Formats: sequence, structure tokens, C-alpha cells
Amino acid sequence: MKIIMLGAPGAGKGTQAKKLAAKYNIPHISTGDIFRANIKEGTELGKKAKVYMDQGLLVPDELVVDLIMDRFKQPDCVNGYVLDGFPRTIPQAKALDEALTKNNDAIEYAIDVDVPDEEIVNRMSGRRACVACGATYHLVTIPTKVEGICDVCGKELILRDDDKPETVLKRLKVYHEQTQPLIDYYREKGILRSVDGTNDPTTTFNNIVKIVEAE
Ligand code: AP5
Ligand code: MG
Repeated sequence: MKIIMLGAPGAGKGTQAKKLAAKYNIPHISTGDIFRANIKEGTELGKKAKVYMDQGLLVPDELVVDLIMDRFKQPDCVNGYVLDGFPRTIPQAKALDEALTKNNDAIEYAIDVDVPDEEIVNRMSGRRACVACGATYHLVTIPTKVEGICDVCGKELILRDDDKPETVLKRLKVYHEQTQPLIDYYREKGILRSVDGTNDPTTTFNNIVKIVEAE
């Protein structure tokens, strides 16, 4: 099963991708998580990516594409994957198509998690993330059992540097300009499916499962 999660920053791509990965036993590949792990470890890639991420801008395509092509070579990708945050531009989508076509392979679904911009800004200010295991929470809607501590791995949670309100607005602008065109791109390929991301996470997940199990 090969799935792409589309949607604005904060739409719930990560939340849903993790659930899909667990249910279908495929890896959850989040380019944002990979960059944040590299920033935390102080790698060269992390240093380069941080400059863009902190401003709410996209990391240049060539850095992302090389990274993801390497990730696909890992043995856990043999039965598929759920991509979260990649592709994010038309050139990235084309690079992905090219790589898959070479192997006679293709993405089955691009699932757009649809949430209006107003709700996005509310969600982001309450988000808390675990850099150790990638789990995400929300102070109000998805609280942890112990405040500030990850339920999954017990490490401390952070407020992401790019979740400040002014950076969120910039990320939304970049999303509309550079990533939203992918919705038409995948619609034309006949693999776009949309879900209402304003429902609670469980309802949204059940709707996604219906899509991937329907055909
Ligand atoms: P990335 O980490 O991918 O960030 P993003 O797309 O901005 O998306 P988020 O992770 O912020 O949101 P999400 O949709 O995963 O939502 P979540 O599930 O956490 O990328 C960060 C940066 O890295 C980019 O800005 C860019 O610079 C760079 N980058 C990454 N990939 C790149 C690429 N391919 N090319 C170039 N640059 C790249 O949910 C949000 C919050 O809402 C959480 O608190 C959650 O608990 C809560 N929530 C989730 N679902 C619900 C619900 N149904 N109801 C209520 N609350 C909910
Ligand atoms: Mg995410």
C-alpha cells in the first residue's frame, strides 16, 4: 500500500499517517520529522533545513528528493509506505512519479485532509510534539496523561519553532502557493480522495480506512 497524505500544515496529516502506518504495518515517512531529527542531531542536512523551516519556507527540492529516495531503499518499504509532507511541490511529485514508474510502481491514493485556514491557526498554537518518537498532541483536543510528557516514550514535549502564529501564517501562504496545486495534479491522475479533517481524529481515520479499503 502506497499512500500520500496531502493537506495544509496542521490539517492532521501526521496524526492520520501514524494511525495508517500502525494499522497496515507500513512505515510512516514524514520529511518534516526527518528534518527535525537532523536538526536535533546537528547534522549538515539539519543545519541547512533549519534556515528554511524557521522562516516557514520549503526546504529546496533537491535536498528533499535525495533524502526520500534514500529512505525508499530501506527494507521496511517493501510493502509500501505512507508519505506525510512529501511531495510538497510539483517538481517533487514528478520526481516521485519518475522513480516509481522506473520500477513499474505507482501511488494508490493521495488523501487530502481538508481543514479551513482559521481552524489551522488554533490547532497549531496548541500542538505539542515529541522529537524523540514523533508523536503529536494538542493541549486541548488531544492532551497527554501527564502534562508536557509523551504518552508513548516518556520524553519531554516541545512547541515546534515553526508553530509561532506568524510563522504558521507564512506556512499557510506557502502551502496555498506551492503545495495546493498537487490536489489538481493527483485529481487528474484519478487517485485523489478527500476527507473532512475538521472531524475528530478517530472519525477522520475511519473515513480514510473506508477509502483505502473500498477499492
Ligand atoms: P512538516 O513537519 O511536514 O509540517 P506541516 O506540513 O506544516 O504539517 P504539520 O506537521 O505542521 O501538520 P500535520 O498536518 O502533520 O498535523 P498534525 O497531525 O501534527 O514540515 C515542516 C517544515 O519542513 C516545512 O514547513 C518545510 O520547511 C520542511 N519540509 C518538510 N517536508 C518538505 C518537503 N517535502 N519539501 C520541502 N520542505 C519540506 O496535527 C496538528 C495539530 O492538530 C496537533 O496538535 C494534533 O494533535 C491536532 N489534531 C490533529 N487532528 C485533529 C483533529 N481531527 N481535530 C483536532 N485536532 C487535531
Ligand atoms: Mg506533521
